[in-house]
Amino acid sequence: MSKKLNIAVLAGDGIGPEIVKQALDVTKAVCEKFGHTLSYEEGITGACAIDAVGDPYPAATHELCMRSDAVLFGAIGDPKYDNNPSAKVRPEQGLLRMRKQLGLYANIRPVTTFPSLIHKSPLRADLVEGADFMCIRELTGGMYFGRPQGRSEDGNTAYDTCVYTREEVERIMHLAYKYAGQRRKKVTMVDKANVLASSRLWRQVTQEIAPQYPDIETEYMFVDNAAMRIIQWPKSFDVLVTENLFGDILTDEASVITGSLGMLPSASIGIHTSVFEPIHGSYPQAAGKNIANPLATILSAALMFEYAFTMMEEGALIREAVAASMDAGVVTEDIASGNKAHSTTEVGEWIVNYIRSKA
Ligand code: IPM
Ligand code: MG
Repeated sequence: MSKKLNIAVLAGDGIGPEIVKQALDVTKAVCEKFGHTLSYEEGITGACAIDAVGDPYPAATHELCMRSDAVLFGAIGDPKYDNNPSAKVRPEQGLLRMRKQLGLYANIRPVTTFPSLIHKSPLRADLVEGADFMCIRELTGGMYFGRPQGRSEDGNTAYDTCVYTREEVERIMHLAYKYAGQRRKKVTMVDKANVLASSRLWRQVTQEIAPQYPDIETEYMFVDNAAMRIIQWPKSFDVLVTENLFGDILTDEASVITGSLGMLPSASIGIHTSVFEPIHGSYPQAAGKNIANPLATILSAALMFEYAFTMMEEGALIREAVAASMDAGVVTEDIASGNKAHSTTEVGEWIVNYIRSKA
């Protein structure tokens, strides 16, 4: 059935505009193929929005997100802020406010391996081959948002606060069980309950909820141990669920075992419009050079079709096209070994042509 898709496009900083352009072209090609009508509007966020209007997530951008069915997001961040701890307004604040204001409490980061990339993994092939798990990171609580946060008057003491409520833990744990039910029926809840009070709440709430899902195995794991297990035995995970900061750290770790940070997409879902973005950053060194890997963003567009529009065939076609481009060796320099490196636009165009060529 053909539908109308209304999406917001937030390219952001660095390589954002280049990779989002490719994902948008792929989205257009898929819509043409399946007879959907695509309408999209661009908005500003991140360092470029600070430069333009002094705010990394302007009200106009929030309104655009609110009236759209999905948000396709690039990346934000600029080196001019990274080494300036005294900057009052930072691009990352835009991303955090967007997550908070849209109520995006769950960030879903599927970790899958690609046969043609296994040799790029820092892990032995036998450890990583076939690894397939889903990280669910809580995205609007914990230390990122807990108050008080700041400095003492003399500037010599600094503090962040990790806060979680029962309700925040419950909603994300139910989501984790829901996805585990559709997968291999195992949930690993990662915390630091041997030290942190907030982690003990996570553990208690999970213990209360677990009996509602008798067909799903629940495993409890301390975060230090989880960090080790991800590189030692990644195949032991199915759904890994954890709080915000632990999830930020563990998902970067999990992403590289697949061979490149440039491959992993994410979906942030919750109360209002969902956001789809690559998990990598704005890679400022590559900006404007047409060398960035667009695949994580293109795969984020696949997640967008699946999660925001329940269009499974459309998402599957994008995945098939991405796999085909890799098999054909049409890939950017970060994953091209032995093959000629292709540009960002060449990879995107190849994928668009592949989609168009399908009957
Ligand atoms: C991520 C990023 C962000 C985060 C930064 C840019 C604020 O690292 O999406 O993982 O820490 O959440
Ligand atoms: Mg991160």
